[in-house]
Amino acid sequence: MDINVQELIKKALEMRGMSYTPYSHYNVGAALLSKDGQIFTGCNIENAAFTPTNCAERTAFFKAVSEGVKEFSAIAIAGGPDGAKELEYCAPCGVCRQVMSEFCHDDFKIIMAKSETEYKIVTLPESLPDRFGPKDLLG
Ligand code: THU
Repeated sequence: MDINVQELIKKALEMRGMSYTPYSHYNVGAALLSKDGQIFTGCNIENAAFTPTNCAERTAFFKAVSEGVKEFSAIAIAGGPDGAKELEYCAPCGVCRQVMSEFCHDDFKIIMAKSETEYKIVTLPESLPDRFGPKDLLG
């Protein structure tokens, strides 16, 4: 399955518009590509009690898994402050990397995007080396 990087980034950028961020005003969008070619989108959803806040990446993963999809190829992530003219790279937080490691293999690609043309790609093991995962419990 080829990865259409531009399409994924476009959806991640669009999803920033759905972020619920009254506290941080930092809007993140994600677009997760499943191995069977579906795209699941997500945005960050904050909460007045702070800890229930869900990152964009996890929103996308949980949408997919709740629809029965558990095999993934790549995720595009775009984030930055509300109204920013240009975005900086937004790296996934540690909790989101851990969620990725539950469902993704070493070939999973994390696409951090400033725009459709400016992005960098790392693999999951580059992003989270020495990770604790299903193999540690299930063999
Ligand atoms: N956030 C994400 O959605 N994804 C990331 O990878 C980093 C952080 C959100 C959480 C919170 O709503 C806001 O960005 C500021 O931390």
